[in-house]
Amino acid sequence: MKTYNIAVLRGDGIGPEIVDGALEVLETLQNHLGDFQLDYRFYEAGAACYQNTGENISAQTLQAIEKADAIFKGATGLPGVRKPDGTEAGMLGGMLRIPFDLYANLRPIRLFPNTATPLKDKAADGIDYYFLRENTEGLYLSRGIGVVTSEAVADTLMVTRKGCERISRLAFKLAREKKRGAPQDGKRRVTLIDKSNVLRSFAFFREIFLDVARQTPEIEAECLYVDAAAAALVTRPEHFQVVVTENMFGDILSDLSGATVGGLGMCPSANIGDRVAYFEPIHGTAPDIAGKGIANPVGQVRSAAMMLDYLGETRAAAMLEKAVWQAFENKRFALTPAGCIDGNMQTAVEALQDELKKIDSAKC
Ligand code: IPM
Ligand code: MN
Repeated sequence: MKTYNIAVLRGDGIGPEIVDGALEVLETLQNHLGDFQLDYRFYEAGAACYQNTGENISAQTLQAIEKADAIFKGATGLPGVRKPDGTEAGMLGGMLRIPFDLYANLRPIRLFPNTATPLKDKAADGIDYYFLRENTEGLYLSRGIGVVTSEAVADTLMVTRKGCERISRLAFKLAREKKRGAPQDGKRRVTLIDKSNVLRSFAFFREIFLDVARQTPEIEAECLYVDAAAAALVTRPEHFQVVVTENMFGDILSDLSGATVGGLGMCPSANIGDRVAYFEPIHGTAPDIAGKGIANPVGQVRSAAMMLDYLGETRAAAMLEKAVWQAFENKRFALTPAGCIDGNMQTAVEALQDELKKIDSAKC
């Protein structure tokens, strides 16, 4: 039987409880299919790790998880745990993405049935696009290395030819491989979001994007300025199939996109490079509700589906995503306006397990 080594970072706040919930769902999936196995190794990382050891993650752990087949991660960081410079401890983003060169941050934005969207008249799957955030350069390249004097501080936005090219290529690859085009018109379409009317870095990014676009004329390529894009993602989300953008724009706008499909708790993500990848929900650690058993495990469960897809277990991945769909369709659990489970997280976990068992694997 195919066995995968999975490094698990359970994280802080609600991280551990929803990671555990997701692992329960994964166990049901493995039993149901019986053709692959996940071998977990658990590691300390995040704010609690910082409190205990003075480091967000140890060099030893970094070395170990780099060798795993995939990394399954819960949210990390706690607002109360700060480094001497005042910034939050436990933030692993830069520590994994830059050293492992995880240049693609893939965030599927999909509206599930019976999920409250703040937008009017949107049907399930009426919003269904991939948000692709460049993950290793742009403004966040300056994370921790900006120039600081007592009178001024500078963080530099830098993009490279290699960085713009590889993320653009991946965007077109996704547009080609994804099951369907944009919900509005079925078209395969990649939208670059930039600010090339103002900054030269973005003009450079756009030029490279358009060069790549010319190699796949069957896929529509368009460019939007970031301010107009912020409006369009709210007013006509059904227009998009794949959206690609710079690191900080992607950080901000993907949260906006998440809000249009019922909140960040619904949204998974993949941080992918050429050798290493980690999978985590896009929400934070929500310490205010940690331990109460009401956190929404859907983003974490769907992150597991993305991980299975990456590992090549595409049928298992499709089944997991389908189980989530069915659970919402059959109103097996509901979310509160704040995005928590209305009731208990365990109800949601059990509903997902139950819906999984109903799926005929031969049909996936
Ligand atoms: C994200 C997060 C991270 C980021 C933080 C937690 C470091 O906001 O993954 O979107 O800035 O990228
Ligand atoms: Mn973010």
